[in-house]
Amino acid sequence: MTSALITGATSGIGAAFAHRLARDGHDVVLVARNTERLRQYATELHDRHGVEASIITADLATDDGIASVEERLRDRKHPIDLLVNNAGFGNKGRYLEVPVEDELRMLKVHCEAVLRLTSAAAESMRERGRGGIVNVASVAAFLPRGTYGASKAWVVQFTQGAARDLGRSGVRLMALCPGFVRTEFHERAGMAAENVPGWMWLDADRVVDTAMADLARGRSLSIPDPRYKALMGVARLAPRGLVARASSTTGRFSPR
Ligand SMILES: NC(=O)c1ccc[n+]([C@@H]2O[C@H](COP(=O)([O-])OP(=O)(O)OC[C@H]3O[C@@H](n4cnc5c(N)ncnc54)[C@H](OP(=O)(O)O)[C@@H]3O)[C@@H](O)[C@H]2O)c1
Repeated sequence: MTSALITGATSGIGAAFAHRLARDGHDVVLVARNTERLRQYATELHDRHGVEASIITADLATDDGIASVEERLRDRKHPIDLLVNNAGFGNKGRYLEVPVEDELRMLKVHCEAVLRLTSAAAESMRERGRGGIVNVASVAAFLPRGTYGASKAWVVQFTQGAARDLGRSGVRLMALCPGFVRTEFHERAGMAAENVPGWMWLDADRVVDTAMADLARGRSLSIPDPRYKALMGVARLAPRGLVARASSTTGRFSPR
């Protein structure tokens, strides 16, 4: 039996990872802030799939929260075979509308927590000569899309660099870059989700299926769905100003 640890496992993409992994027979460790929700989901996964499902209540915007998950990842007696760094959020508002403390909180969750948890897991996996780490970024990483996109660009660069450095170790690292996925993300961030065209929305379970297939293929970058692969190809070739205008008006955070 192998074990997977998923951050932000109670909703959206993280919940879809937890479901897929439990269904495949992996024990799961679920991480998020809301203990009641974690308990309910762990019980559901255990009852439906017969796997061990444990929980860690942790706020990854705090040092204590990150440290408690690092400690679990360093436990050599109960090793984690797959880490999914998925927890994340968007701040309400554009640059300078968002207080700097909130920007720093986002960097703590999206960058510092991802660096520290990846490092704790990768060290232990390297000793065993196997393991996988999926860091959830976004297609926003490739677009001029505020501080959110900048933090996700860090996730992509960090993950692909680490994947190369650990190339012969047996540890696989992959950055996952979805487009718009129907989850609680947009409501929580006060985003104008209604101006995102219907065809741009992805399903969380499908995103996770593509991610798991790409990880198995040894990819260090996964962009689920051909529509987004094509869009990112066009964005690379189109004039930067045009791309900036289109990406800053589609479903962008708008204070309500
Ligand atoms: N939805 C999209 O369109 C989309 C597109 C591209 C990338 N992404 C990325 O996908 C990831 C998952 O997003 P989602 O769409 O699934 O969002 P979601 O439905 O809002 O779920 C977010 C999850 O993260 C947890 N979380 C949030 N802040 C946390 C913190 N400080 N510490 C620990 N856990 C925290 C939440 O639980 P608690 O509130 O209980 O902590 C929840 O389980 C994020 O990294 C996001 O940037 C999303």
